[in-house]
Amino acid sequence: MSQTPITLRQLPRLRNRRLGQLGGLIRPGAHSSPLLEFGKRFVASPPGFPTMFITHDMADVREVFTNHEDFSVGQLMARLSSHDLVFGKETLIFLEGEDHRRERKLFSPPFQHKALKSYEELMIEVVERELPKWPVDEPIEFLKAGYDLAIGVLLSVVFGDVAPERSGRLKDAVSAWFGEIESRGFLAVTLVTPLLGGYTPPYRPLMRAQAKVDEVIIEEITARRASNDAGADRRDVLARYVGTELDQHDDVALSRNLRGILLGAYETTAITLGWIATMLAAHPAAMAELDAAVDSGDEARLDAYLDAVVAETMRLRPVSPFTGRIALRDTVVNGVAVPEGTIVIIPILLIHESEHIYPDPLSFRPERFLDKKPDGHTWLTFGAGPHRCLGAQFATVEARILFRAIIEKRRIDPIPGPIEPARRYHTGLSPSRNALITLRRR
Ligand code: HEM
Repeated sequence: MSQTPITLRQLPRLRNRRLGQLGGLIRPGAHSSPLLEFGKRFVASPPGFPTMFITHDMADVREVFTNHEDFSVGQLMARLSSHDLVFGKETLIFLEGEDHRRERKLFSPPFQHKALKSYEELMIEVVERELPKWPVDEPIEFLKAGYDLAIGVLLSVVFGDVAPERSGRLKDAVSAWFGEIESRGFLAVTLVTPLLGGYTPPYRPLMRAQAKVDEVIIEEITARRASNDAGADRRDVLARYVGTELDQHDDVALSRNLRGILLGAYETTAITLGWIATMLAAHPAAMAELDAAVDSGDEARLDAYLDAVVAETMRLRPVSPFTGRIALRDTVVNGVAVPEGTIVIIPILLIHESEHIYPDPLSFRPERFLDKKPDGHTWLTFGAGPHRCLGAQFATVEARILFRAIIEKRRIDPIPGPIEPARRYHTGLSPSRNALITLRRR
């Protein structure tokens, strides 16, 4: 006989005067949050927001991630932020069930397995173009280099050799669009959304900037269709759609999805690259291991250690230190009755700092991932379940390839003392001094 589920009312409740402490769960050092006095589950009711069920019970977490029918990540984003306006409600993260499965199948192949191998040269070319611009023997904010690398790779991998008359316009349009997303006006719109119950007021400057990006992308798609230059010699993502069996969208929908992918991939990748540089500067033993691998000329050893560095950096500094879902109907999560409309928060960083999962959890030890790939249930930088990041494999391979190309030419100076602190950036964490490091010629 199944037991009667416990209700949210029976769980510890965070008093509103302590709501500020929630922030401590998603900053490095989360494991020492006073909220751990509640155990693994508690409830919060911030004024004006739906009830929040915060859990780091791993059985709960697994159920929430895999229960595609009763929970939605997109609806949560639409309720709390202006993401739906930026991405478009027809893009992957906002879809559920069969619609999501179909679209995911169409958009996955260019970001996985064999396809990744073919982007390697394009990625190295981006490093070769950017690296000479970075000063040596003096401090640089590597986060900025991370942004340049991230957009360079995206434009080149997603769109490839765009016809010259369009490539400058595409870059400018994308950069103007990113600028609008960062603008004060749009920030105000974003902040007001949760207070309006999830309604995002239209924000014309952003809509205009998005329309310009779409215009150039659609022009490129049209030109490729017209020239029958869909796939032949091209390695880019667009070429893997146009004229292939994946080509099942009209040009507007394809453009919107590619634009969404640019956005989802850009900042997350740039900040991760910044953290990798920060972690290497703060951990000379890891840098020395990479130096030794470069000097030995053993590429397999270098790649294996770099993969481990990337995984360990993403464990301790996940760009999104939490994720969540909203309940679409009354449901039960591992014996807890969760009413429709409840927000479930999964504190990823807190889970990554658990000593039961990662012994000596606060130490940066890439070795823990040398013989063992990150476990998809407990290493949650890319989320989990059907909405797990589409670009997870792409992003980790990209970080390895970019850093391999960088450290074959440059060393990163050690920085004694504590790791550069994290600052809140939107809902994520970014290095507070923009990943200040010093590069030396090898
Ligand atoms: C270090 C870089 C990145 C991080 C940390 C990251 C993180 C995430 C997270 C946390 C989610 C939500 C998962 C969930 O709540 O279960 C997500 C979804 C997504 N990401 Fe990423 N991401 C990164 C890079 C990328 C890249 C490179 C791409 C595209 C090539 C991408 C495309 C997407 C898409 C399309 C989704 C929605 C997937 C779906 O709903 O089915 N991301 N990402």
